[in-house]
Amino acid sequence: MPSFDVVTPQRSYRAIVERGVLKETGSHIPASAGKIFIVTTQDVWQFHCHHLAAALAGRSHEILIFPGGEEHKRLSTVESLAEQMVQRGGDRSSLVIAFGGGVVNDVAGFLAAVFMRGVPVLQIPTTLLAQVDAAIGGKTGVDLACGKNLVGAFHQPIAVLIDPEVLSTLPEREYRAGLFEVIKCGIIRSPELFALLAERRADVLARKPDVVERLIAECVRIKAEVVSADERESGIRVILNLGHTAGHALEAETGYSRFLHGEAIAFGMRVAAHLAQRTGNLSDEDAAQILNVLDLYGPVPPLAGVTAEALATRALIDKKTLKGQVRWVLPVRIGDVKVVPGIDDAVVRSAIQEALNELSTCAGD
Ligand code: GLY
Repeated sequence: MPSFDVVTPQRSYRAIVERGVLKETGSHIPASAGKIFIVTTQDVWQFHCHHLAAALAGRSHEILIFPGGEEHKRLSTVESLAEQMVQRGGDRSSLVIAFGGGVVNDVAGFLAAVFMRGVPVLQIPTTLLAQVDAAIGGKTGVDLACGKNLVGAFHQPIAVLIDPEVLSTLPEREYRAGLFEVIKCGIIRSPELFALLAERRADVLARKPDVVERLIAECVRIKAEVVSADERESGIRVILNLGHTAGHALEAETGYSRFLHGEAIAFGMRVAAHLAQRTGNLSDEDAAQILNVLDLYGPVPPLAGVTAEALATRALIDKKTLKGQVRWVLPVRIGDVKVVPGIDDAVVRSAIQEALNELSTCAGD
């Protein structure tokens, strides 16, 4: 059973990767916890309620269902869930279980961070993307119309329970979107993971259990290490944002409805590879390898109507922008990245344009 310690000033906890761990949920909830609130979406609850409900038998709990999708990751959703918690007997002893994908992890985590000034949250991610990234590290929050994740809080969970079994019901598109976050982990810190993705595409896409578990465990290891070194993203944690500057810009520009987060990050990593190449930070060979592995796990939805100009302007609203300078996370080789601030606007626009051109001509599979 791979288990990884996340050690932060706010809290230390374990991220456990284990088939069937969902059924052990009860043993990860402190005996002192009051009413438990499971925040989830209809589809997740429908597929997996039996295991979680059985695991909580004998504990007082309520189910709070909200519509999934990035368009519901808004303050109004948090307000409505908080009202429901009060109406159903929530108090300062309550505990929230975030049971779902990245949106649920972010919304329920933020709800826990602010409900009565903070109650504990247990993260149980059910998508690949949430298992390898969103549920670990305490980032919680919601979107504003003008930008993604612009309101939020760091609220570390009491544990993260990662059950690869639940991925069996994940739609193909969601699974592939999660794989782009796995590719990100390979590019930032793990040539071995990157090679696995490049060489075993068929097994990865077939969700071969031993391969999926290796992918997840390696990403969780990396995430736990990075977050433990820098909880609040004042240093090294920024590397986890590879592809996120242009990716977030794309999500906001398309109203959060056309691209899944992982798909937008795939676009953002293409931009980062071109930008790294153009600024002399990445060899042509490594750039080609990155673009090739992204192609292996495509396609992403059509980019019709999206312009480089609009995305470059949006990138300025990114949280990593400081004093008007966008801080780009760029690959320097497979397994290593660096932060490059203040790249000339024309260079940024041309890298974005190249990524747009590639995807408008690439049919995918
Ligand atoms: N998803 C990036 C991070 O957790 O820092």
